[in-house]
Formats: sequence, C-alpha cells, structure tokens
Amino acid sequence: MATLDRSRLASLLAAEQATYTDRHPRSRDLFAAADNLFGRVPMTWMNMWTGGFPLYLDHATGNRITDVDGHTYVDFALGDTGAMAGHSPAPTVAAVQRRAGELGGITTMLPTEDAQWVGAELERRFGLPLWSFTLSATDANRWAIRLARLATGRPKVLVFAYCYHGSVDEAFALPGPDGKAESRPGNVAPPVDLDLTTRVATWNDLASVEAALAHGDVAAVLTEPALTNIGIVLPEDGFLAGVRELATRYGALLMVDETHTFSTGWGGATRAWGLEPDIFVIGKSIGGGIPCGAYGITTEVAAAVTRHTEAGDADIVDVGGVGGTLAGNALSTAAMRATLGEVLTEEAFAHMTGLATAFTAGVQQTLDELDVPWSISQLGARAEYRFARPAPRTGEKSAAAADEELDAYLHLALCNRGILMTPFHNMALMCPETSREDVDRHTAVFREVVGALFA
Ligand SMILES: Cc1ncc(COP(=O)(O)O)c(C=O)c1O
Repeated sequence: MATLDRSRLASLLAAEQATYTDRHPRSRDLFAAADNLFGRVPMTWMNMWTGGFPLYLDHATGNRITDVDGHTYVDFALGDTGAMAGHSPAPTVAAVQRRAGELGGITTMLPTEDAQWVGAELERRFGLPLWSFTLSATDANRWAIRLARLATGRPKVLVFAYCYHGSVDEAFALPGPDGKAESRPGNVAPPVDLDLTTRVATWNDLASVEAALAHGDVAAVLTEPALTNIGIVLPEDGFLAGVRELATRYGALLMVDETHTFSTGWGGATRAWGLEPDIFVIGKSIGGGIPCGAYGITTEVAAAVTRHTEAGDADIVDVGGVGGTLAGNALSTAAMRATLGEVLTEEAFAHMTGLATAFTAGVQQTLDELDVPWSISQLGARAEYRFARPAPRTGEKSAAAADEELDAYLHLALCNRGILMTPFHNMALMCPETSREDVDRHTAVFREVVGALFA
C-alpha cells in the first residue's frame, strides 16, 4: 500500500501555491482591496477556497467558469449544488428575464400560477402532496422543524453526528461522553445548550437511533438519505428502512433533507430508494441558481398543524415564526418552474449519472494502480473521494479521515490545471452540460497529481 510522504506533500503544496498566486494577480488585487467586506469576502465561508484568496468570477456558462485573470475552468463545484442545472441555464434565464422584465413583478406578496405548477411537479417527483416555498434550504429546514414540533408536541430533533443541514441551530451537535448532545466545535454562539433541542445518533447505527428515540421527546429525525457533508457516507442496506420504522414506532416524524442527495435521480433518493418521509426538504438547485427552497408535508402533518392553528395556539400566517416576506416570490417560482420543467429532467439525470459513474471509475483506476488507501463514493450525479479505504460507514469515521493539507494540495493542483472542485469537499458534481471529455480531463489530471504525490 502506498504511504504518504508528508515532506513531499509539503513541497508539492508550496509549488502549487506559488503557481496559484502567480497565475491570479487580478483576483489577488481585488481581494486585497476588499477593505469593506468582513473577511474580505461577500460571505465569510468564501475564505474556504484554498490559496489564500478566492478566484474572482468574470463569467460562467454551462459547466465553465472564467475568472478575472482570463483562466477558464471545468467546474465540478457547481456552486456546491446550487448550480447543478449548470450556470445560467437558458430556460431559467428566459423565465427570469420574462418575469423580471417583460411581465414585471419580482416580489409583490401575490401568488403566481407558477407556484402550483411547481408544487404539482414536486409531488410527482418526491411524493408529498403539500408544499411551501422558502429562499434557502436552511429556511426550509428551520420552518419545517417548527411545524414538526407543533405537530408532535415534542421539543427535540434527532440528527446524525457530522450532519449538515444549513445554519440550523439544532443540527450543530455531536454525541457527548454521556450520550447527550454537545455543541460541535466551532459552533458560533449557540442560543441554548444543544442538549435542550437535540439528540444525536451515529449514521448506519440503528441501535443509537433507537436509544435516542426511546426517550420519547423527539419531534423529528432530520437526515439526509446519505451523509454528504463529511464526504459521502452511503447508507448500509436496511438502515434507512430501519430509521423509518423506528421513527414511526417511537412517534417521531421522518424529515428527509434532499438538498444535496437530489443528485441521486430526478426524484432524489426518496424516489430511487422508496423512502417515505413525513417532511421533505430541498433547496439550492431547483431554481437553477435563483435563491429558493421548498418543504413538502404529508396530509397527516398538515392536519396536525391545522388542528393547532384552528385552535388558535399557533400562527402560521403572521408572526408565528414560519415564513419570510420574500419566500415564494414570483421570480423564484418562475425559476423553479423552468429549471424543473426544462433543465433537471429525467434525461438530464441519466446523462449526469452516467458521467459521475465514469468519473468514479477514473478515480478508482488511479487509486488501484498506485495502491493509494483512499476511496471514492458516488451518489447519482455526484462523487467524492475521501482519504480512507474502505469508504467510512459513519460520520465519526469519515471526520477522522479529513486531511487539510491533502485537500489543499489536490484543490490547488487541480485548479492550476483548469479544474474546480468544491471547496468544502473533494466533491465533483455533473450538470447537463458536463461532457465525457471534461470527465476524462479530470481523470488524467487526477492521475498526474496523485502520481506526483506517491512517486
Ligand atoms: C443537506 C443540506 N441541507 C441544507 C443546506 C443549506 O443550504 P443553504 O445554505 O442553501 O441554505 C445544505 C448546505 O450545504 C446542505 O448540504
């Protein structure tokens, strides 16, 4: 088995860093001049890009990004799923132009016909009958958690260690030594002790799920169908069915967040794997990049909520804590209609999944040839490599396989050779415009840069 030589990694990383700095003088200058931005970036997480400063965008189309220094990249980051439909897909752009320009009315507080079309399409894909719209997946999770608490009369949310569901307070938890939820390191000023709001279980460990649910205080199990924010950690056979069965047995709702796992297919993992969530959450991609999100609920959840609103002990139409002024606006519903109707179609998913399979095989070939102890996991149109072999089966084990120096080397080496990977991950996502040539280019570059490391 190949072993990693840390001093070799350090010198390769230094060389890639120097190349990156030399190749991007304009991005570097713009970053240095951004005195009025906290952290010098529009949002602090943009400092996750490796290299000391982010690339500045000049223009983007399909799966290509061109930076302000004139370099063009094959983009496998795709806005960490926000641009899964490709950059500025033509049908979405046309719908947005029509809504904002020709028709007029970006945000009016009035519904448009598009919203019902989108609701019906979401039911066709994911099965749940009743939908509300948001401006982000984070909002969808937050508001749906409130409904889950209301519907069940229970205070806590059960999450999995190393999950991520956006900036949702309840979800930044790890299991403490006594099994109670503890705040995850780095969690910014949690409003209350996590033990008051959260229970935590271990992915692929049904005994831990049952132990948490047995307390009888969990309103909803909030989960992705596969963990995607600590590498991709796939569910073992029977795990998701077991979670569903346990949630029902202990009176908790099952809340499935498919913001990333939508990559599994046109109906997400929910359709592909026959999941039966009580609440379904999605965001990022379905508006083709225009801010939007959605949550779907069953008629049973809706009835439980309505019992409370009719009794007057909860308010979902005014200042009760569910909703936002811009949510469901005419522009984002027009974007969702066009993106779901004309871009992220069944045919597009077949194309994207085929390419991710080729991407996965290309990476695996290098790992096998050089006997590198890493793994790659695929989830439909996305794939991600992780520095552990075999692929970790829990969030805890996957977290232990993290290696910041290796991440930095791979991200910079690929970037210097014209390939962008998602900064928080070693994740590659295919969009309708990704081609086999783009995948083959990654395969060749990956072989080159991993070969240099294990030479
Ligand atoms: C599974 C999952 N849910 C929700 C979110 C939050 O999405 P947003 O930041 O667009 O609100 C993310 C973000 O990465 C996510 O991965």
